[in-house]
Amino acid sequence: MAEGVSNIAPTLRNFLDLSDAGGDAIAALIGDAIDRKALRQGWPKGRADSDKPLDGRVLAMIFEKNSTRTRVSFDIAMRQLGGSSLILESGTSQLGRGESIADTARVLSRMVDAIMIRTDDHSKAEELAHHADVPVINGLTDRSHPCQIVADLLTMIEHGKALPGLEVAWFGDGNNVLHSILEAAGLMKFNVRIATPAGYEPDKEFVDLAITGGAKVNMTQEAAAAAEGADVLITDTWVSMGQDHAHNKLAVMAPYQVNDAIMAKAKNDAIFLHCLPAHVDEEVSKSVFEGSQSVVFDEAENRIHAQKSILLWCMGMLG
Ligand code: CP
Ligand code: NVA
Repeated sequence: MAEGVSNIAPTLRNFLDLSDAGGDAIAALIGDAIDRKALRQGWPKGRADSDKPLDGRVLAMIFEKNSTRTRVSFDIAMRQLGGSSLILESGTSQLGRGESIADTARVLSRMVDAIMIRTDDHSKAEELAHHADVPVINGLTDRSHPCQIVADLLTMIEHGKALPGLEVAWFGDGNNVLHSILEAAGLMKFNVRIATPAGYEPDKEFVDLAITGGAKVNMTQEAAAAAEGADVLITDTWVSMGQDHAHNKLAVMAPYQVNDAIMAKAKNDAIFLHCLPAHVDEEVSKSVFEGSQSVVFDEAENRIHAQKSILLWCMGMLG
């Protein structure tokens, strides 16, 4: 056996949704992210952490949709953990020419140590995980965006918002990001108020998941009602990747903009989150986006720290 190679098989885990980890593991992920972040304050961003826990490991990232934060944060996360990453885009890989997900999974499993996929249909991520022998991470599907929410929870905690009993308000489209917030609410025991226009509510499956987990979920068509006394206010683009810009969606969404009037209804120390990219003066006013309660760039940076803990958990090195 080569020097430095353990003969103990690690527990490899997929991270397709937050429930794959569960509440205890998510708390451990956030704790690890806080610790690792503190240990490297002021360091060059590409320098590896002292322990290099993923020394020699490679992450393949499959992108069937655009990305800035997920792409860069996973790459920098791997560098900081002592490993490296590579990117496969559907337009320049054989996936785009019809090679099956099953064969792609089996080939990549021989070549890399973990796979991240951003795609449209969630079943593609599930199929990849089914056929892969290495961990598969959901980097966003039309159904959910779990990695984003680990970063969001980390950001809330860093800003003094202990999760149990927290009042989190969502405004606008009932989309993939909201689905993962609802899943997190059930696991971490915070409450969610959801203000959406009729017909744009989140999937009932995720509302039920939150409620079953013990979260209170309040659905309304009144943005001001959702904001009243909230600790955290969150929105996202009104038109997600792959959705149709047509019809009257922007007009229907207009009353759900997070603006000064909405922020004034929330607690004085409430914070504003947005996964980005933002469409300023659509889902959020410029005054809120650039205002003192906005923590959106802390949230973006935290994608790196969250990804590192997710990768370590998937590799069986955490939780
Ligand atoms: N928030 C997020 O996932 O950003 P990207 O689409 O840039 O990866
Ligand atoms: N809901 C958005 C999130 C982008 C990070 C989308 O799916 O396009």
